[in-house]
Amino acid sequence: MATGISEPEAAAGRRVTSSAAHDDAPIGVFDSGLGGLSVLRELRRALPRADWIYVADSGYCPYGGREPKAILERACTITEFLLAQRARLIVVACNAATVAAAEYLRANYPSAFVGMEPAVKPAAAASRSGVIGVLTTTLTARGERLRRLVERHAAGVRVLMQPCPGLVEQVEIGDLDGVQTRALVAQYVDPLLAAGADVLVLGCTHYPFLRRVIAERAGSGVRLIDTGEAVARRTAELAGVQVSGGGELRCFTSGSTEIMQRVGGRLWGAPIHAAALPHH
Ligand code: DGL
Repeated sequence: MATGISEPEAAAGRRVTSSAAHDDAPIGVFDSGLGGLSVLRELRRALPRADWIYVADSGYCPYGGREPKAILERACTITEFLLAQRARLIVVACNAATVAAAEYLRANYPSAFVGMEPAVKPAAAASRSGVIGVLTTTLTARGERLRRLVERHAAGVRVLMQPCPGLVEQVEIGDLDGVQTRALVAQYVDPLLAAGADVLVLGCTHYPFLRRVIAERAGSGVRLIDTGEAVARRTAELAGVQVSGGGELRCFTSGSTEIMQRVGGRLWGAPIHAAALPHH
């Protein structure tokens, strides 16, 4: 496998051979939890007539501290669920899952996949100080993929990787600006500022929900960049112009449906109904 991850036994032989990509078929989106709703927000703006199925793998969140093999296994399970729901296209709205699974998914399932990558290229282009910080999960920070991205797109720019354990969990419980969240943000952002970073990349889809607190800590001279909009543009290109649903959103979670409705609804800015992800 091109990712360098050994193929999990349970994923072997899982190749799904048919999927109907009709114009009215929904677009599947998944994340380790609620963070992908920040991507879905952009997706919906780009494709207002599409129908969506969102899977929050909150029962297995955070992915950041897990082995890539375990994340790949989760990505396969969710992909199979989305294909069974006739998803015409799947957005991996999770940087960690993209690192662990995108190449494998593309090679083994009959669907197009759009993945997430920290926005290193626009950040490097926007920096005047020549120093950028990448706030991300541990798994994404140590991935080969990010190293290659930096090599290709940030020549001459100092790129500081900042793993941020704990931030995903704060978003999952809906603590977007409490004492604990602010303390973690300060702990991760301050060293980047001290090193001269003038652009910070939000390299995890949960972090756009912390944008206000991160921006406050970073100050007005520092720009924050995330990948949601670029992913939405790419998804719209792949989906084509014929998308013809009613803008419906169906949500599933491997965690608590009550929490997804309460916290997810708050993040989404409107009530959402969450169902249990079957057979997870
Ligand atoms: N939203 C996921 C990402 O973009 C968080 C991963 C995690 O659960 O650690 O990477």
